[in-house]
Amino acid sequence: MNIQIFLTKKIKKICIKYGTPKNFDPIIRKNTKNNEIDYQINGIIKFKKKMLLSPHELSIKISNHMKKYNMFKKIFAPKQGFINIKLRNNWLCKYINKMYNSKNFNIPIKKKKIVIIDYSSPNMAKEMHVGHLRSTILGDVTARVMKFLGNKVIRQNHIGDWGTQFGILITQLKLKSYKSIDNFEKFYKKAYSLYKKDQNFIKETKKNVVKLQNKDKKCIKIWSKLVKLTIKKNNLIYKKLNVLLKNSDIRGESFYNYMLPEIISDLKNKKIAVNYNGSVIVYLKEFKNRLGKNMGVIIQKKDGAFLYTTIDLACIKYRCNVLKADRIIYYTDSRQKQHLLQVWNIAKKAKYVTEKTSLEHHSFGMILCKNNKPFKTREGKTIKLIDLLNKSILKAKKLINKKNKNISENKIKKISENIGIGAIKYFDLSKNRMSDYQFDWKQILSLNGNTAPYIQYAYTRIQSIIKNNKSDFNTNLYHIKIFTNFERQLILTILQFEEIIFILEKNGTPHLMCNYLYDIAGKFSNFYENCPVLSVKEQHIKISRIKLSILTARIIKQGLYLLGINTVKIM
Ligand code: ARG
Repeated sequence: MNIQIFLTKKIKKICIKYGTPKNFDPIIRKNTKNNEIDYQINGIIKFKKKMLLSPHELSIKISNHMKKYNMFKKIFAPKQGFINIKLRNNWLCKYINKMYNSKNFNIPIKKKKIVIIDYSSPNMAKEMHVGHLRSTILGDVTARVMKFLGNKVIRQNHIGDWGTQFGILITQLKLKSYKSIDNFEKFYKKAYSLYKKDQNFIKETKKNVVKLQNKDKKCIKIWSKLVKLTIKKNNLIYKKLNVLLKNSDIRGESFYNYMLPEIISDLKNKKIAVNYNGSVIVYLKEFKNRLGKNMGVIIQKKDGAFLYTTIDLACIKYRCNVLKADRIIYYTDSRQKQHLLQVWNIAKKAKYVTEKTSLEHHSFGMILCKNNKPFKTREGKTIKLIDLLNKSILKAKKLINKKNKNISENKIKKISENIGIGAIKYFDLSKNRMSDYQFDWKQILSLNGNTAPYIQYAYTRIQSIIKNNKSDFNTNLYHIKIFTNFERQLILTILQFEEIIFILEKNGTPHLMCNYLYDIAGKFSNFYENCPVLSVKEQHIKISRIKLSILTARIIKQGLYLLGINTVKIM
């Protein structure tokens, strides 16, 4: 039961009847400060002028009207346009037991939307660096959440495997031998420095780009070797990171090559694009350049080469026409905002996207050092993602070794991987994706606070409580019930799991799930410190509390799973 959505729907209906606009949001928030209030409705006062009643009168009307639902212990309008709600214990118990008895927590799975998630999408012939962490794990959470709610998820790893960078590499490789590409970072740097100053090299590169576009055999051979090599390296990272991406999710820039000439002629036919000085350009009145004139977006260069924008136009057309997307979500950093807005603008004009498809850019900020500078090595180099992950696993291993003396090397390895990777992922996901954040090893692996190790530890503790229950009884004998306010708080929070998942589905905001799990762990701790579980004599209380502990553990496990983080048995 999604309490927030249920209340919003019902209250909205009443408000609209009394004059508020159709898109009115009553703003229903859970209350965390006052034990006597579970939810508060704050949005009524905002529309004071448009309503047929005063905010206070309307609040009273709503309260009276809502009383017919048997879910409230109290619903009242204390002052001007606010409504406070306290839910009935019986009602909470009914739903918590439904949740306990259901495999998927009694969360309805109704809609089947086709959701395309464009994530990770690194450029080839380069190693993934720390900047790719966010595009990879944020997108992966959304893929998991969408799937959990019954959507059809199509993951698209839009790898950068086309364009000038390959021209540069091919030019260099034609000069040198294949053997030299083991370290392609170094190789690319060398090639790029030549491309910057050597006129002949530049000329050759341009030729090679066009040759590649035209499927020249030799170019394709070199190209495919480079791409394969990079994918192999990246797969090691995906495996370590525990993300869902598979080889079959790769649909890189090169895939759209066959569509590009047609896109150009189509846009020209539709009078959206024009020839200018040998290149093909789309002028957009919605965007202005530095001189205040309509911005020109190049879609084909003089030498015939296509651009990043051209490819994204073909890509969006494919996603709508062939994949039949209802939603397309892009995970790229905020610097690509303008690029995407332009692509969407052109695609809409050309009718490559229909009204029904929602286009979304889930942008994110940067990872910074403690001094707020971009996160780099001491020597100022970009940090390779693989090095960062290995370092975290090593740090986790030291922690585990200190605490556990008698477990096998193999187990330690497995646990350290789950803790080390979980910690890095969680630290990133727990930040609002829109903002930059500072990378801080101390906090990342801390056992206190809103961190993965803390949540994973809370999980192991609950597991050991459940395991320590020696008495043999039939848990079906009794239901979960509320005996103290500690239980009530925990139950209410567990019931709010559904709200969080639906918000994640809508907005792609994993930090809310992190906050939620942190909250649950805290509420459980309160409950456990104040309510005897295994030592309580009355069977019905004991069973109720054990069941509540089991459900808490299941919620934590599921929540972490949606974040792409594993639980562990011991820590
Ligand atoms: N390869 C791009 C980069 O590394 C990200 C691609 C994002 N997806 C897209 N359809 N443009 O910046």
